[in-house]
Amino acid sequence: MPVPEFIEDRDELRSLAPVAIAPITHHIFVCTGKSCSARDSAAVLAAFDRELKARGMLFGREAKGKNPNGSVVLTECASVGFCAIGVAVMIYPDGVWYAQVHADDVPEIVQEHILNGRIVEKLALMKIPHVGSGNQSLETRALKSDWDA
Ligand code: FES
Repeated sequence: MPVPEFIEDRDELRSLAPVAIAPITHHIFVCTGKSCSARDSAAVLAAFDRELKARGMLFGREAKGKNPNGSVVLTECASVGFCAIGVAVMIYPDGVWYAQVHADDVPEIVQEHILNGRIVEKLALMKIPHVGSGNQSLETRALKSDWDA
């Protein structure tokens, strides 16, 4: 398999990957591993897709109903170890891992966590420490909650 050419030109990179210049604030991962899939992670993923599109927040191509200037990237991921307590949802850069998420919880997560910066405490199980970041606005937002992992 040929090795792709390494691209050094930043403008070329940005034109090839428009997400690099989008105003991204959050990346949401929904686990679609075997156990989470058995708990209908597809419905959770679809609910995030629907909710974020309805609010114009989901980054992506207009042709797919998304917003090229959207602020949220939504992706699925493989197992993260919450297999017995899925569906697992992780939100970065806040580093919050939610457990037992159902599709019905998604509007609250989007409204409270993404828009208001308040962790949905009933679903949050752990928080990856935010180390070495100069992003004070996110640090400040995370401190609004008295939830502590
Ligand atoms: S299958 Fe989702 S955490 Fe393991």
